[in-house]
Amino acid sequence: MAKEKFYITTPIYYPSDKLHIGHSYCTVATDTMARYKRLRGYDVMFLTGTDEHGQKIERIATGQGMTPKEYTDKVVAGIKDLWKLMEISYDRFIRTTDDYHVKAVQKIFKQLYDQGDIYKSSYEGWYCTPCESFFTETQLKDGKCPDCGRDVELLKEESYFFRLSKYGDKIIKYYEENPEFLQPNTRQNEMIANFLKPGLEDLAVSRTSFKWGVPVEFDPGHIVYVWIDALSNYVTAMGYGSDNDADYQKYWPADVHVVGKEIVRFHAIIWPAMLMALNMPLPKKVFGHGWLVINGGKMSKSVGNVVDPVVLVEKYGVDAIRYFLLREIAFGQDGNFTNEALIQRINSDLANDLGNLVSRTCGMIEKYFGGKLPADRAETEFDADLKAVAAATIPVVEAKMDNMLFSDALIEIWNLIRRTNKYIDETQPWVLCKDEAKKAELANALYNVAESIRIISILIQPFMPLTPAKIWAQLNIAAGELTEWESTKTWGLLPAELAVQKGETLFPRIDMKKELEALEAAIKASQATSIANQKKEEEKKEEPKKEEAKAPAHEEPEYPAEITIDDFCKVQLKVGEVIESNEVPKSKKLLRNVVKFGDEERVIFSGIKSTYAPGELVGKRVVVAYNLKPRKMMGEMSYGMILCAEDSDGKLSILTTLDENFESGSAIS
Ligand code: ME8
Ligand code: MG
Repeated sequence: MAKEKFYITTPIYYPSDKLHIGHSYCTVATDTMARYKRLRGYDVMFLTGTDEHGQKIERIATGQGMTPKEYTDKVVAGIKDLWKLMEISYDRFIRTTDDYHVKAVQKIFKQLYDQGDIYKSSYEGWYCTPCESFFTETQLKDGKCPDCGRDVELLKEESYFFRLSKYGDKIIKYYEENPEFLQPNTRQNEMIANFLKPGLEDLAVSRTSFKWGVPVEFDPGHIVYVWIDALSNYVTAMGYGSDNDADYQKYWPADVHVVGKEIVRFHAIIWPAMLMALNMPLPKKVFGHGWLVINGGKMSKSVGNVVDPVVLVEKYGVDAIRYFLLREIAFGQDGNFTNEALIQRINSDLANDLGNLVSRTCGMIEKYFGGKLPADRAETEFDADLKAVAAATIPVVEAKMDNMLFSDALIEIWNLIRRTNKYIDETQPWVLCKDEAKKAELANALYNVAESIRIISILIQPFMPLTPAKIWAQLNIAAGELTEWESTKTWGLLPAELAVQKGETLFPRIDMKKELEALEAAIKASQATSIANQKKEEEKKEEPKKEEAKAPAHEEPEYPAEITIDDFCKVQLKVGEVIESNEVPKSKKLLRNVVKFGDEERVIFSGIKSTYAPGELVGKRVVVAYNLKPRKMMGEMSYGMILCAEDSDGKLSILTTLDENFESGSAIS
């Protein structure tokens, strides 16, 4: 049977030498959907590219002493590098300077002119070059661009017009008949209230005052308005208007155009009107996502609060960044980007929930069975619920993904991860292992956890391109039948005799405070370079002007003497049970303790030998600073710190819980 097609697009990006994490947000979301659909067996066409014409690009290039083509050639290479870094699996990349595209746009323009949908007149009004948008006097906000707030220019030039006004009612009707067309639904209300109900005006679709664009063939001196040129990419990239339009026939209409909310208007009004005029099918869906903001303002190069995706990916890995973007912000809404929230997610969701699940499972299989599970297994009373939760999770994840509710899908997957961790707590392998008669139960419990991890590793694939293979290496399974999406629906596909080998930590825990300081420094350094470069360019093109010293993008706060409750909460305190406390050869101060937190055991060195004899603390519940960055002591890693009071004579007293049998692993707050 032929595969069903799925055609998905990102906007084509304005070539810029500094794409920020907000740009990556859009492509990462689109990529996640494309990967998901491939896993579901679709013949996916994922298109992205660059929008290279227009006054904005011409000005930037001139400012840098280059021709527009020289400038875009240089920058486009960098954009492709960024998509590689972000593991963007696009199938096709269009540049609007590509010859076939230019020709097809000319054809489209000519057809619209020949059939009377485009006519010649003259334009008088306002233009925002950064947005490449026309505005009437009344649309301006305090004399500025209503979209970006920047200065607009008065234009008065001969221009061709597209009869957009003809299509308003048709578009409203189309929305009504296709409630799924524009998502989320609130975007539809905005379009109707702000543009369609007040009535559409004809749109100026050519310019004469600059040269960088697709020439209107039949009227030299005019170039095609950059948005008409840009929107056409979604069909020209498929060969529309060329000698070979097989891909157009196969993939059009697009299944979804993913776009930022500020350009929904172009995709949900102008583009449908163009297609209606050309008598072509409309895309099935336009999804208008929200913005990644910093301190409430849209991230943008000009605002100077750029967050560099390269810095972030180099530090934390692409999977962590992709996970954060899609988990933290409900797709469709705006979301605030903070380094703190990012590290929080990495530590709790990735290091703790997922990473720890994989490492403790492989660790236990190694410890209890020498790395190989015996086929002889006996069920436990906890199995049925784990299997039921896994089985119930998959269709819900599918439904969320089909609706591009990425954050919701991840919440479901993480519920299964947490449920699996809970299953370990319920079955208590560290207790079963003590009883030879319980070996089959122990093998079964660990098998079930591994099987659940297998299912989880498949479900996270659209989001995380690299982590699943690392998990499969630890479980000793090859990509193939056992890693296919459909295989999640059958429990127990892992081989009965499962061999594992513990690998590297998937997501190392991060020391929040240190990391925040280091990040600020790295981001500042990258901003300083880009500001310095910008300055150089400016100096090159204009006679030197005395400028007031600019305030730095972020003011450094005074170092606080007091800490807030939030600061305090960064220290995770836990109750631990000391199960070993031994002498350390060659150390006068230290004891090497093994402390148990629930089912987890950690080595913690402590400078308490002056007061406590080896073994004296065994069985005691102590208070541990749990999320302290591990450090090497006496040639071994120490994970945390046992809290201890010290009097003026240097005598020590360990802090402990009043209830001597208090559950280890409990949080302290
Ligand atoms: O608009 N948060 O290109 P572009 C989320 N060339 N998304 C953001 C963002 C942020 N802070 N900043 C930018 C264009 N984006 C046109 C498109 S399509 C025929 C032509 C998103 O480079 C933005 O919303 O300005 C848009 O979807 C994409 O990045 C490209 O923006
Ligand atoms: Mg933009």
